[in-house]
Amino acid sequence: MNKTALVTGGASGLGLELALLLAKDGHNLVLVDIDAEKLQLAKQEIETNFPVKVQILAKDLSQINISEEIITELNEIQIDVLVNNAGFGLFGPFHETDWKREEQMLNLHVITTTHLTKLVLKGMVERGSGRILNLSSLAAFQPGPLMSLYYATKGYILSFSEAIACELKGTGVTVTALCPGPTKTSFQKVVANDSSENKISFNMASAKEVAAYGYKAMMKGKPVAIPGAFNKFLAFLPRVMPRNMAANIVRKIQEKNREE
Ligand SMILES: NC(=O)c1ccc[n+]([C@@H]2O[C@H](COP(=O)([O-])OP(=O)(O)OC[C@H]3O[C@@H](n4cnc5c(N)ncnc54)[C@H](OP(=O)(O)O)[C@@H]3O)[C@@H](O)[C@H]2O)c1
Repeated sequence: MNKTALVTGGASGLGLELALLLAKDGHNLVLVDIDAEKLQLAKQEIETNFPVKVQILAKDLSQINISEEIITELNEIQIDVLVNNAGFGLFGPFHETDWKREEQMLNLHVITTTHLTKLVLKGMVERGSGRILNLSSLAAFQPGPLMSLYYATKGYILSFSEAIACELKGTGVTVTALCPGPTKTSFQKVVANDSSENKISFNMASAKEVAAYGYKAMMKGKPVAIPGAFNKFLAFLPRVMPRNMAANIVRKIQEKNREE
């Protein structure tokens, strides 16, 4: 019998690439995303290429109690793989940014990621098998001036994932935090100044290569996955420099990215 994977933000970018890899390995899919049209296109693409079933749910994952709503709607479907991928970036000094959008980010990155994990994890542990992949970021390793909440929420996801990965040792269930550096998806349009790409793009990876790296790490049960040697170095660097120095460097990079 085919296993089932639930992928949030599965209609585009890294989520869609991860969904394609799961389908290639024979997983039926539940794709949850905010845009019904994009979801329909993703379902068509996957079902045309692979003999798996794709169920789509158009939901705003920043809504309170959305995780319970999704699991209830899925009724008896057993979730064997959970990919908490949906997310977005926000730029600006914290005293000027829009609280409504920030509240949505906190709900999506922190509450929904945590609650969905909680709701599927018990069953996974009882069955003695399961894989969870949580999308963190290179942003998780230091404070991020001008994208303060984004960096902080990705730090939360990394810490939470590593902690429960350790708790789950020996249960047959693994949790992996994927920490990509800049990756070519529509996410970059939001983070950069306009509809163009991030200005500091020398380190930009493709969504396909990042997803392939994360997928392999999840299947192996690695707790933390940082794609690329340079990104591994960048993740290590803040450990050996004063914290305020790391923050100042990030601020300069963010300012450079937004230059006219
Ligand atoms: N790209 C990078 O450079 C990068 C680097 C490190 C980490 N990441 C992380 O990777 C994950 C995937 O991002 P991506 O780069 O693949 O960007 P993406 O192409 O924008 O994909 C994110 C998906 O999540 C959806 N989404 C956003 N808010 C949602 C909500 N409230 N409810 C339901 N769906 C929602 C988006 O829909 P809409 O587009 O319609 O809003 C989009 O389909 C994110 O968690 C991001 O933080 C990305």
